[in-house]
Amino acid sequence: MNVEEILNEHLEMIDREIKEVFRGHDFPEPLYAMMKYHLGWLDESLREAPQYRGKRFRPTICLLTYKALSGVYTKALPAAAAIELIHNFSLIHDDIEDMDEERRHKPTVWKLWGIPQAINVGDGMHVMANLAALRLKDANVTSQKIVEVLAILNRTIMRLCEGQYLDMSFEEATDVTVDMYLDMISRKTGALIEASTLVGASLATEDEGLIGHFRDFGKNIGIAFQIRDDIIGIWGEKGKAGKPIGSDILRKKKTLPVLYAFQKAGRQDRQVLRGIYGKKRPTKGDVGKVLRVLERAGAKKYSQGVAERFEALAFKDLKVIRLRNASTEKLGTLANFLVRRSF
Ligand code: IPE
Ligand code: IPE
Ligand code: MG
Ligand code: MG
Repeated sequence: MNVEEILNEHLEMIDREIKEVFRGHDFPEPLYAMMKYHLGWLDESLREAPQYRGKRFRPTICLLTYKALSGVYTKALPAAAAIELIHNFSLIHDDIEDMDEERRHKPTVWKLWGIPQAINVGDGMHVMANLAALRLKDANVTSQKIVEVLAILNRTIMRLCEGQYLDMSFEEATDVTVDMYLDMISRKTGALIEASTLVGASLATEDEGLIGHFRDFGKNIGIAFQIRDDIIGIWGEKGKAGKPIGSDILRKKKTLPVLYAFQKAGRQDRQVLRGIYGKKRPTKGDVGKVLRVLERAGAKKYSQGVAERFEALAFKDLKVIRLRNASTEKLGTLANFLVRRSF
């Protein structure tokens, strides 16, 4: 099976579960409609129309982890839905924090309805995630397990906030190291991907060793995924990525390619970078200049190499699990895609 088929195989199952969470929540209608717009169920005029919904890969790896260990999906579905809702709430807030105007080929929530409403829409979706997880009760998961899952999810969201804090604080910092960057992305992005496999495994088994390996697989894939995201943010195509290219540079984000060029570019080029990153606000023209410096330094190749190192670690985790079935196979295919994707 290829990636598209694997993602499509799970998409409707996940969305059906998320729709169940929305059932009975309908007033005031526009509040929920804005959430549904972000989830890709409604268009800009808040009418039902098929939209691009994002990859939904986090719930997919949660489901596949659970299935790899149990043979079925059932008990993992509510947790998978919760994870996708956490991801989406964080995106609504992230687009405000980054002032990005486009996501998934559409205007962002704040761009259409303003920052105050977008904050509230994100907050609402955060709570919907908790309500989604509480549906584990209907899937006959024990109360003890449910508390365990809720604890994991809440700790994860806290790490995500820590990562977002660091990501923003780095915009104005000039002394960010690669280690600081790796720590930051393991929080803002890695934590939720790690939680996806951790929760899937914790619901399926009590075997701490197995749970740990699945968890590490998610963690390493998460780091590789964000490095690839940073590459897309600089060298991607807007038509494929569905989000602005170059905005990380405009916001002086300390992404891996930039940190590398700060260290490895020639003397003159480093001076160019220092000049631009020392400005209050770089211009569109500066983006081109930074690009040329990054190209000359080989920052793309270096960054992709680092992403692939984390991918290799993830595959090691998958290997020591010593479980071979269709679901672990699919996890491998997904991991490979996440590090090489263009969207
Ligand atoms: C984007 O995540 C945000 C990051 C953590 C880099 P995805 O690339 O998974 O976004 P969608 O859900 O597929 O749109
Ligand atoms: C997203 O990070 C991380 C979270 C949403 C928590 P980015 O800001 O790098 O991701 P994109 O590029 O906007 O999707
Ligand atoms: Mg962003
Ligand atoms: Mg961000």
